[in-house]
Amino acid sequence: MPETEFDRPPHSYWLDFAPPAAYPSLAENIAVDVAVVGGGIAGITCALLLKEAGFNVAVLEADRIGRGATGHTTAKITSQHDIIYTKIKQALGQSLAKQYAEANETAIKKIADLIKAKKLDCDFSRQNAYLFTERDDYVPKLEEEAALASELGIKASLTENPGLPFPVKAALCFEGQAQFHPIKYLFSLAAEIPGGGSHLFERARVIKLEEGDKFCLHISGGGQVTAAKVVLATQYPCYNKAGLYFSRIYVERSYVVAVKTKEPYPGGMYISAEEPGRSLRATPVDGEELILIGGEHHKTGQGPDTTTHYRNLAAFAREIYGEPEIRYRWSTQDCTTVDRIPYVGRFLPDTQDLYLITGFAKWGMTNSMAAALLIRDLLVKGESPWQDVYDPARRTVAAAAKTFIVENLNVAKEFIAGKLTSAPSVEDVRPGEGKNVIYHGQKAGAYRDEGGKLYLVDTTCTHLGCELSWNAAERTWDCPCHGSRFSYTGEIITGPAVEPLSSLKEPVKT
Ligand SMILES: Cc1cc2nc3c(=O)[nH]c(=O)nc-3n(C[C@H](O)[C@H](O)[C@H](O)COP(=O)(O)OP(=O)(O)OC[C@H]3O[C@@H](n4cnc5c(N)ncnc54)[C@H](O)[C@@H]3O)c2cc1C
Ligand code: FES
Repeated sequence: MPETEFDRPPHSYWLDFAPPAAYPSLAENIAVDVAVVGGGIAGITCALLLKEAGFNVAVLEADRIGRGATGHTTAKITSQHDIIYTKIKQALGQSLAKQYAEANETAIKKIADLIKAKKLDCDFSRQNAYLFTERDDYVPKLEEEAALASELGIKASLTENPGLPFPVKAALCFEGQAQFHPIKYLFSLAAEIPGGGSHLFERARVIKLEEGDKFCLHISGGGQVTAAKVVLATQYPCYNKAGLYFSRIYVERSYVVAVKTKEPYPGGMYISAEEPGRSLRATPVDGEELILIGGEHHKTGQGPDTTTHYRNLAAFAREIYGEPEIRYRWSTQDCTTVDRIPYVGRFLPDTQDLYLITGFAKWGMTNSMAAALLIRDLLVKGESPWQDVYDPARRTVAAAAKTFIVENLNVAKEFIAGKLTSAPSVEDVRPGEGKNVIYHGQKAGAYRDEGGKLYLVDTTCTHLGCELSWNAAERTWDCPCHGSRFSYTGEIITGPAVEPLSSLKEPVKT
C-alpha cells in the first residue's frame, strides 16, 4: 500500500520554509531595556516595534522561533473573529467593541504596509473573509453581527452565495481582509531584530523571573538577562504572580489537513459560525494551490483519541472535494480568555514594567499586531487607544473567572481520574501506542515505539502537578489543566511548564 500522509507524523507545511540556521543561545549575562519572552508572532512583532521605537530589546525563545502556534496556524489576517462584536457589545458596551474593531482593522493595514515597505516575500494576498452558517437559527445572529460590524466601520455584508462548494443559509462577508505565509513573514521580521544593542536568542527558555529594581530573567542554558521592562508573549504566561491567570485562561487544540483537489479554489477565507467548526483557505504552492481545512477544537489533554480529529477533517474534505490528496496534516493550540478577548497590557494593574500578551482565541494574526502596537504605545506614551478592551483587569474577567475555575478544573480532574481507575500495565502497551499505566504500583506514562522500545515517564505535570494524558496523534503527553505538552521522552514541547518530565527506567528482565 502506498504511504499516505496518515502514515507519517503530523508536520506543518509552513515549517518546510523555516531556515535551517538558528539564532544563538545565551550562556552569559546581558542587560537590555526590554526583554520579550517568546518568539512567536506576538513576541517577534512586539520586539521589532519596540526596537524601531528606540529600545534595546532581547527576544528569548525557548525553542526555535515560529515553532509554536505561529508555525501551525492557518494565518488568516482578519478582523472577523467568529461572532465577536455582538458579544463584546453585550458584555462591555459599544465603545469597547469599537476599540476591538479599530485595533484589528488597523492591524491588517499595518501588516500590509509593513510587507509593502519592507518588500517582504510572504505570499500576502487580499481576500474576503466569510463566516458562514448552514443553520436557519444562526442567520439572525449573522445579520446582527453584520449590522454592528458596519456601524463599527468594517466593510461587512451578508450573502447567500459566498462561493463554497456546498450550500449555506447565509455568510457574513468582511471585505478586503488578507492571508499570508506566517513563517516567511515571521523570519523576515525576526532578521531585523539583532544588532544595535538588540538580540534574538533561541534555545533560551526563561525558567525564573525575579522582580527588583530591574527584572532578572534566568535562562535554561545558564545565562541571565537584566531588563527594565519585560513583555511575556509565551501564549500561556510562563510567570504567574499570584496565580491570577490560572483561573482566567484555557487552552484549546485544533487541527488542519492540507489537501490538493482537482477543482480550482474560488478564493476567500471561510469559517463556520456553528459547530462543528470548519475553516478553509488556500495557499499557493509551485503554481498549484493547497487548501487548508481546519477545525475539531477541544481542550488540550481532554477529549477522545486525538487521531479522530484528523480523520473527521479528512472525511469532511472527501465530502466536499471527492477524493482530494492529503499532502499535510498538523495541529496546534492557543489560549482563550474567559470572555474570549485577549489580555494585552500590564500584567497586574500595579505592575508598571511587566506586560502580558495572551489569549488570542485562535485569532492571533491581527491581534498580535494590535498587541504589539498597544504595548509600544504604553511604553512610549503611557497609553493606547485600545487599552480598555484588551485590559487584563477589565470588569468582565473577575466574574467569569469564578465559573471558569469550577468548570475547567473539575473537568480536568474527572477526566484524569477516569483514566486512572482503569489503568493497564506496561505489557498492555503495543508498538506505536502510549498509555497511562500502573507501573510498580505507581502511575506512569508508557510509550512503545514501532521497534518495541518502551519509554516510561512520570506523568505528573511539572507545572502544577496535574496528571498528563496521552495524545495519540502527536505522540505527546498533554496536560488537561493549563496545556503544557511533553515528548514521549519527557522534553517540554509547550509551556507553561519549565521543567521536563522525569524518565523512569524499565526493570531489567531476568
Ligand atoms: C489550528 C489553528 C489555526 C489558527 N488559525 C488562525 C488564523 O487563521 N488566523 C489567526 O489570526 N489566528 C489563527 N490561529 C491563532 C494563531 O495561530 C495564534 O494566536 C498565534 O500564532 C499565537 O502567537 P504567539 O506568538 O502568541 O504564540 P506562539 O507562536 O506559540 O509563540 C509563543 C512562543 O513562546 C515560547 N515560549 C513559551 N514558554 C517560554 C519560556 N518559558 N521562555 C521562552 N520562550 C517561551 C514558545 O516556545 C513559542 O515559540 C490559529 C490557531 C490554531 C490553533
Ligand atoms: S500545565 Fe499546569 S499543571 Fe500541567
